[in-house]
Amino acid sequence: MKNLRRVFLSFLILSFCIFNFLQAQDQQGFINLDCGLQANESPYTEPTTKLTFTSDSDYINTGKSGRIQNVPGLEYIKPYTGLRYFPDGVRNCYTLNVVQDTNYLIVAMFTYGNYDNLDTPPKFDLYLGPNIWTTVDLQIKVNGTREEIIHVTRSTSLQVCLVKTGTTTPVISALELRPLRNDIYIPQSGSLKTRFRVYLTDSKDIVRYPVDVHDRLWSPFFMPEWKILRTSLSVNNSDDDYDIPEDVLVTAATPANVSLPMTISWNVEKPADLFYAYLHGAEIQPLRDNDTREFNITAGPNVSYGPVSPEEFQVNTLYNTSPVKCDGVVCHLQLIRTPNSTLPPLLNAIEAFVVVEFPQSETNADDVVAIKSIETSYGLSRISWQGDPCVPQQFLWDGLTCEYTNISTPSRILSLDLSSSEITGIIAPDIQNLTQLRKLDLSSNNLTGGVPEFLAKMNSLLVINLSGNNLSGSVPQALLDKVKKGLTLNIQGNPNLCSSSSCNKKINRTMLPVIASLASLGVIISVITLLFVCIKRGPSIVKGLSPSQPSIETKKRRYTYTEVLAMTNNMERVLGKGGFGMVYHGNINGNEEVAVKLLSQSSAQGYKEFKTEVELLLRVYHTNLVSLVGYCDEKDHLALIYQYMANGDLKQHLSGSSTMSWVDRLNIAIDAALGLEYLHIGCKPLIVHRDVKSSNILLDDQFQAKLADFGLSRSFPVGGESHVSTLVAGTPGYLDHEYYQTNRLSEKSDVYSFGVVLLEIITNKPVIDQTREKPHIAEWVKFMLTRGDIKNVMDPKLQGMYDSGSAWKALELAMTCVYHSSLDRPNMSHVVHELKECLMSENKRTRDINSKRSLDINLSFGSDVNPKAR
Ligand SMILES: *[C@@H]1O[C@H](CO)[C@@H](O)[C@H](O)[C@H]1NC(C)=O
Ligand SMILES: *[C@@H]1O[C@H](CO)[C@@H](O)[C@H](O)[C@H]1NC(C)=O
Ligand SMILES: *[C@@H]1O[C@H](CO)[C@@H](O)[C@H](O)[C@H]1NC(C)=O
Ligand SMILES: *[C@@H]1O[C@H](CO)[C@@H](O)[C@H](O)[C@H]1NC(C)=O
Ligand SMILES: *[C@@H]1O[C@H](CO)[C@@H](O)[C@H](O)[C@H]1NC(C)=O
Ligand SMILES: *[C@@H]1O[C@H](CO)[C@@H](O)[C@H](O)[C@H]1NC(C)=O
Ligand SMILES: *[C@@H]1O[C@H](CO)[C@@H](O)[C@H](O)[C@H]1NC(C)=O
Ligand SMILES: *[C@@H]1O[C@H](CO)[C@@H](O)[C@H](O)[C@H]1NC(C)=O
Ligand SMILES: *[C@@H]1O[C@H](CO)[C@@H](O)[C@H](O)[C@H]1NC(C)=O
Ligand SMILES: *[C@@H]1O[C@H](CO)[C@@H](O)[C@H](O)[C@H]1NC(C)=O
Ligand SMILES: *[C@@H]1O[C@H](CO)[C@@H](O)[C@H](O)[C@H]1NC(C)=O
Repeated sequence: MKNLRRVFLSFLILSFCIFNFLQAQDQQGFINLDCGLQANESPYTEPTTKLTFTSDSDYINTGKSGRIQNVPGLEYIKPYTGLRYFPDGVRNCYTLNVVQDTNYLIVAMFTYGNYDNLDTPPKFDLYLGPNIWTTVDLQIKVNGTREEIIHVTRSTSLQVCLVKTGTTTPVISALELRPLRNDIYIPQSGSLKTRFRVYLTDSKDIVRYPVDVHDRLWSPFFMPEWKILRTSLSVNNSDDDYDIPEDVLVTAATPANVSLPMTISWNVEKPADLFYAYLHGAEIQPLRDNDTREFNITAGPNVSYGPVSPEEFQVNTLYNTSPVKCDGVVCHLQLIRTPNSTLPPLLNAIEAFVVVEFPQSETNADDVVAIKSIETSYGLSRISWQGDPCVPQQFLWDGLTCEYTNISTPSRILSLDLSSSEITGIIAPDIQNLTQLRKLDLSSNNLTGGVPEFLAKMNSLLVINLSGNNLSGSVPQALLDKVKKGLTLNIQGNPNLCSSSSCNKKINRTMLPVIASLASLGVIISVITLLFVCIKRGPSIVKGLSPSQPSIETKKRRYTYTEVLAMTNNMERVLGKGGFGMVYHGNINGNEEVAVKLLSQSSAQGYKEFKTEVELLLRVYHTNLVSLVGYCDEKDHLALIYQYMANGDLKQHLSGSSTMSWVDRLNIAIDAALGLEYLHIGCKPLIVHRDVKSSNILLDDQFQAKLADFGLSRSFPVGGESHVSTLVAGTPGYLDHEYYQTNRLSEKSDVYSFGVVLLEIITNKPVIDQTREKPHIAEWVKFMLTRGDIKNVMDPKLQGMYDSGSAWKALELAMTCVYHSSLDRPNMSHVVHELKECLMSENKRTRDINSKRSLDINLSFGSDVNPKAR
């Protein structure tokens, strides 16, 4: 079996005819850097691609320009004949401005071309931010190499770094960025490094921009055992999200011997490599009535998908939704004709990618912005000050120390040492934005101006060394007060600076070291960590929040009983009856609808818990949690005032006369799961809801779901018997057996209850029904599944209108949530992830139906996607 390596011989070659030149197209968002290009030659339009290249000099401060020598047999187009090489420093980085959270195709080109007459092609590492992308080995890739990755940006700046790993000098020829749609080429995790991208043809032409609007480079590929089909008709690509150029689709390959499978193989570079393959197929042979073309796709022994029938003159893209590991050192992808097919398999184009994980998070973005402004304001140009300031740790910037919690937590800058750096001017105000800074050393420079007040406000600072400068004026009183409390401040050797606010007598030498009382510091720290905190993150990432959402902080929270009576119009309209009191409709200031829960009085102990609970709940804020607007705490009258949810609860809707679609149900499940996830991981200490059930999932006027009554069950168990603190709280049917038996509460109890809710959503059956073979819903579903009776598990009201893969996945997920042992249950983050995937496949189905197409394309050929009845 041949492998695909040889297709890469020709990519740099100028014989690079693009069939039909379109008009110069939109290059929006493209970045094209010709590395090492002199500023006076920049910019220029490259004639074959019509792309405008500019010099890289605005994006990097280091490195030198070089020019490759003519490589016999190869002709390079202009952007790839110049280069930048990096004789100094270990890590040299480009900093590019990008759009955050955007999928980019990032291309870097490397050609050595003996630019230095030393005949020693380099080998070095390429990084994206703090994570390694790949190793560039020009000793092997003697004709140069093109490295490509599809990567979603995490911030507004992207750093591409060349890291010296041996004695040779890194070089780079060109750097190109092309934004892509955010919904294509998305792996389960990590980013996609291109292994190859070919179209199957016997021509020699490489296809790229402008024929490919995203400037993907399609190399021709052909094997002798294939036959090429070609059409002069056009192939419709408008329904496929991948914008595959028509020129790539008008040819296709089939096996020359119609009874043999079609095989594409390639080498595995590292045994652990995980692959994604994207197959682009369109039937380009007009089919007679008695013709069928149908085949299965396999990748190794464990992965198969099919049967597939390419649509006539219409491209579809098939890919594995979970990564595939190849068997041994070679990957084999096979297209195998099914017995009923009269025609052999067919394929037009294929791309393969290797997953690259990017586990190391970047340094805290505010710290990065601050340190870069400090760098700019002092005009520093230190060779190590490139790329991420703190990570990877071996490339830590000179003069910094950082805090490294773990790989997934952004590092923070803890100390800054700019002593003896020949810096002038004032103490840079940007320093105050390094909010975790503990030690600041600006000694032995020529700083002028006063000692700024802000230093006293930087609460984390323990040591400030300003000695040996030209500072003047007086030290702010606030800073002197801090010194009394333990700050170490050195202002020695500033002849014009005095250390007291009166400043009548000139003091030359002031050293005010006071050792911080470790005891008091410890107390402060433990007080801080004891405080209950929830990360404020819901509103920024979750859909459906109006931008004018008033800040809870600024609103009045405590109401008198008279006000409560007024807002409910003397308890005029009853919304419902809760476990611990009546719920009334209310209105604050005539514009904000609320639900007011009047709590039936129980015990003194209950009151204390009520107060702690209220304080806690006022801090919890997430778009999928019903928020507490206020409370009333007046002698015998305790009330909780919540956001009003116009559309009642989920239970009502499931049992109501109108039918909720599968998409609506999934959206509600996701919303509720996000709310729970927040309680579990967004809050410290975590909050266990303890009473997740369909009647506690409320719907607002937009049908966005929000969890109600969270945390409350801790102080108000059902029935108001709060004094029995050991009482197991919850609702029968939703209650986790393990918790019931052991009395040990964990967030996995909520996962169990959520699983029960999910089963309700899927089946629309009562949670407990004594007339059923199995009264409890989880037992019943299990029973039905073992009988293989899937159809009758699903809510008949759905009338089969759902993607079966999506329904299956949701069902499996629900069943894992209700596992008897809490250890076996997933966490809520996993649940959210899985539900989103369910939603994606359902959305795909509805899109396909809307476009009235028969082939369901976006399916995986991963073995894990089509669950089998257990
Ligand atoms: C480099 O290019 C030359 C000329 O086209 C070719 O003969 C040679 O095989 C190429 N080497 C590699 C490693 O691709
Ligand atoms: C391509 O297919 C889409 C959807 O099937 C259709 O709406 C469109 O008209 C087709 N375009 C051409 C040029 O046939
Ligand atoms: C096609 O392949 C089959 C199975 O390997 C073989 O028996 C047959 O001889 C082949 N036909 C031709 C024309 O090579
Ligand atoms: C299909 O039909 C054509 C005529 O329409 C005929 O020539 C051909 O033999 C048929 N093929 C098969 C496999 O039946
Ligand atoms: C093709 O796939 C289908 C469904 O996965 C399977 O039933 C069939 O046996 C497969 N056929 C071949 C030839 O592998
Ligand atoms: C295929 O599945 C078997 C059994 O699950 C496993 O042992 C083997 O490693 C898998 N092979 C690959 C290439 O994933
Ligand atoms: C193959 O064709 C026969 C006759 O048309 C049909 O009965 C059978 O279901 C088909 N098999 C598959 C796997 O499609
Ligand atoms: C420092 O923080 C303030 C307030 O957060 C902000 O306005 C300012 O732009 C920041 N300065 C820098 C250099 O980031
Ligand atoms: C990293 O640290 C954070 C905060 O301490 C913690 O929540 C998280 O679980 C840790 N992650 C890993 C992978 O250890
Ligand atoms: C410090 O700066 C002042 C004013 O800019 C200048 O006169 C003086 O020579 C500088 N001193 C040193 C040591 O650079
Ligand atoms: C401050 O800097 C001076 C000169 O660099 C040094 O001698 C002194 O030890 C430093 N003091 C402190 C407290 O760091």
